[in-house]
Amino acid sequence: MRVDLSGATAVITGASSGIGREFAKALAAKGCRLILVARREDRMRALASELTVPCEVLAADLSKEAECNRILEIIAGQGASVLINCAGFGLLGPTVEQSLSAELNMIDLNIRALHILTRRFLDLRAEAGTGAVLNVASAAGLLPAGPYLNTYYATKAYVASFTQGLAAELKDMGSKIYVGALCPGPVYTEFTQKANGREWASAKTPEEVVEYAMRKMEKGKTLIVPGAGIRTGIFATRLIPRSLAAKIVGMGQKSRVGEEEPAVPAAPAPAATVAESAAETGETAAEASVSAENKG
Ligand SMILES: NC(=O)c1ccc[n+]([C@@H]2O[C@H](COP(=O)([O-])OP(=O)(O)OC[C@H]3O[C@@H](n4cnc5c(N)ncnc54)[C@H](OP(=O)(O)O)[C@@H]3O)[C@@H](O)[C@H]2O)c1
Repeated sequence: MRVDLSGATAVITGASSGIGREFAKALAAKGCRLILVARREDRMRALASELTVPCEVLAADLSKEAECNRILEIIAGQGASVLINCAGFGLLGPTVEQSLSAELNMIDLNIRALHILTRRFLDLRAEAGTGAVLNVASAAGLLPAGPYLNTYYATKAYVASFTQGLAAELKDMGSKIYVGALCPGPVYTEFTQKANGREWASAKTPEEVVEYAMRKMEKGKTLIVPGAGIRTGIFATRLIPRSLAAKIVGMGQKSRVGEEEPAVPAAPAPAATVAESAAETGETAAEASVSAENKG
């Protein structure tokens, strides 16, 4: 299935920074009319003023179901055919030391809001029978577990699994609606700072991730994993016991806990960047395996 994004009306959650902001720029370059959603209205207004396409700015806390429903009511009559579910956050550190209410808020945003918006957006597109939903999961969602960023990994496993299953159902039903999951490894955004941690040195830029995601989305790929090294790392974790993979991932995430000394990781990104350098030279068997899942 090929997805034509040109000239569409696109809703982007998490549009005030990072990957969502970059999606806004990339979709504007395709002539899309944009509906930007996040809490920080000033950021979105500043972005809208930079773009040359019509932009509507909707300030909303999507961790609240009523706010999700309010946004859906606003967009219902506007013929939006593209939804990018990008709003999300994580918290580094031992699970037992996290605030339970902060974790529940994460689950409400990363899982519940995304589920509500996806389901009701599909309802809105049912009559037209066309459209596209891209759910921003994470490479974290394709790994067995992520100690020290634990609840976040679990939320992204939900997003990746839910989206892949939904795509399979829609395909089975002969639907022309595209649903895909974007699963990036580390990306330089506000994410790590908000998670109270240190950035990986191997992080990609939002521009790199979004450029790749848009290309794969247009080709109708269901599971989008930017970076040969990340794809290889994910594949490598499937060759070892899940408990060992979780331990390796946990060692890497534990090294990132804490806000001092930003931007230099104490260890290479576990699992996600295994064999990253080795993979730069071309498609390996491991990449081919993850790519094989990509047949939308
Ligand atoms: N950066 C990475 O390494 C990485 C890797 C893989 C996947 N991801 C995923 O990529 C997505 C975007 O993250 P990012 O890296 O671009 O981080 P970011 O720069 O922190 O952006 C997060 C976005 O989510 C919005 N948001 C947070 N809480 C919200 C709420 N309650 N209601 C509405 N919007 C909310 C933020 O806007 P406001 O604060 O203005 O509300 C912001 O626009 C997330 O789902 C993240 O899990 C990130």
